[in-house]
Amino acid sequence: MRILVIGSGGREHALAWAIARSPRATKLFVAPGNGGTAKVAENVALDVSDAAAVVAFVRAEQIGLVVVGPEQPAVDGIVDALRAAGIATFGPSQAAAELEGSKAFTKLICDEANVPTARYGHFEDEASALAYIRKQGAPIVIKADGLAAGKGVTVAMSLAEAETAVRDCFSGAFGTSGHRVVIEEFLDGEEASVFALCDGQAVVLLPAVQDHKRVGTGDTGPNTGGMGAYSPAPVITREIAARIENEIILPTVRRMAERGTPFTGVLFAGIMVTRDGPKLIEYNVRFGDPECQVLMLRLQSDAVDMLEAVATGTLLSHAPRFRPEVALTVVMAAEGYPGTPKKGTEITGADALDSETLVVFHAGTKRDGERLLANGGRVLNVTALGSSAAEAQARAYAAIAQITWPEGFCRSDIGWRAIAREMAQKTPD
Ligand code: AMP
Ligand code: GLY
Repeated sequence: MRILVIGSGGREHALAWAIARSPRATKLFVAPGNGGTAKVAENVALDVSDAAAVVAFVRAEQIGLVVVGPEQPAVDGIVDALRAAGIATFGPSQAAAELEGSKAFTKLICDEANVPTARYGHFEDEASALAYIRKQGAPIVIKADGLAAGKGVTVAMSLAEAETAVRDCFSGAFGTSGHRVVIEEFLDGEEASVFALCDGQAVVLLPAVQDHKRVGTGDTGPNTGGMGAYSPAPVITREIAARIENEIILPTVRRMAERGTPFTGVLFAGIMVTRDGPKLIEYNVRFGDPECQVLMLRLQSDAVDMLEAVATGTLLSHAPRFRPEVALTVVMAAEGYPGTPKKGTEITGADALDSETLVVFHAGTKRDGERLLANGGRVLNVTALGSSAAEAQARAYAAIAQITWPEGFCRSDIGWRAIAREMAQKTPD
C-alpha cells in the first residue's frame, strides 16, 4: 500500500518510522516532513493547508491511506476532503476536530455526556470574566478558546495573575483565540496522557503515557509542548484506566456519534488523576508529541494494520499489541525554546545511534547535504526501551552523550516520577 503522512514533527517521524517497518507499506511519503522522515520516507513539499492540492497529489500517487499527524489540517477539514474523494484517512472530520479546536465545545459535550471535568464558565467580555474570577478566587485556570499553539492556558495561583491573564486574552494576546475565554476550576493531582483509537464506534485504549510539560529540570519554568515522555505511566493503574474508558472516553465517543459527528482517529485525553478519580483536563484530536514517539517504539503489531483499521471502521478486529518494556523519550531543544529558538546550528553524532530499541526521532531538523541542522524549537527526541524506567532513562541519556550540539539542551530528569515509584517498590518500609 502507498501511504502519505501529513506533518513535520517528531510525532510524524515516529509514525513514519513505524509505518516503514510494515511489510504492507510499499511507498511512504511525508508532507512536508523533516530531516528524520527523509531517512524512512520521501519528503514532499506539499502545502498541507491546501486540501485540493493534497487530494490531487494523493490521486496522482495512488495513495491508499493518509495519516494526518497534527490538529490544524484536521480542524481545517482535510479529512473531510480526502474522504469525499474516497480515500481512507486516519484522523477526525472537521466537526469532530472541534473537540480540540474549541474548548467551549468540549465543555458542552462533557456536560451532555456527564464526563467528569473541571467546573467552568465561558465569557465573551472582560468585565464578566473578571467578576467571575473574583467570585471564585485562586488558584484558577484561564484558557483562550480555540487553538493558541498551546500558549493560551494560564494556571493562575493568585488572583492578580488570573486578572492579568484575562486582560491579556481580551487585549488580543492570542489573536482571535482570545475572544472567548474559558475559566476553570483548578484540578489538583497527577497528570497523564491517555490515547484512544476510535473508528467512529469502537474504542481501543493505548498504554498510558506521562509527559513533562515544563521546560526546566524539576518541572520548573514555562510550559512547552513537552520535554520528554514515558510509557507506561504508573499513575494510570488498570482500575483508573477502566474508569477513564467508561466515565470519560466512551460517553464522549457515544455522544459524538449521536450528534452525527462520529470521532475517528486518535482521541487524546489529558487526564488529571485527582483524589476523586480521573477528570478530563482537555481533549486533543491527534497523537501527543512527544507521547507518540514512546508509543511507536513500544508498538509490536503492524502500524499499517492499526491505522488502516481506524480509517476503515474495522478497529475491533485489529486491536494493536504493545511491548511490555518501558519506553522513554528525552527532547533535545534549541537554545531559546520555548521562546525564539536559535536555528541553523549543526548537530553531529545523531545519525549512527539508531537500533531496534533506541531511535533518535527528529522534530525540527533539516538536512544541508551531509550536515544535520536545527530548524525549530524541539529538535531531537532520543527514545529508548528498557526493562524499567530507570534503564530506559539511562539508555536515552547515554545516547544523548554521543550527540554533539553545543546550542541544544535537554532536561536531565525525564521519567523521575516513574523512577521514584520503582525505587519505592524496591525498598519496602
Ligand atoms: P491545556 O492546554 O488545556 O492542556 O492546558 C495546559 C496545561 O495546563 C495542562 O497540561 C495542565 O498542566 C494545566 N491545566 C489545564 N487545565 C487545568 C486545570 N483545570 N487544573 C489544573 N491544571 C490545568
Ligand atoms: N505533549 C502534549 C501535546 O502533544 O499536546
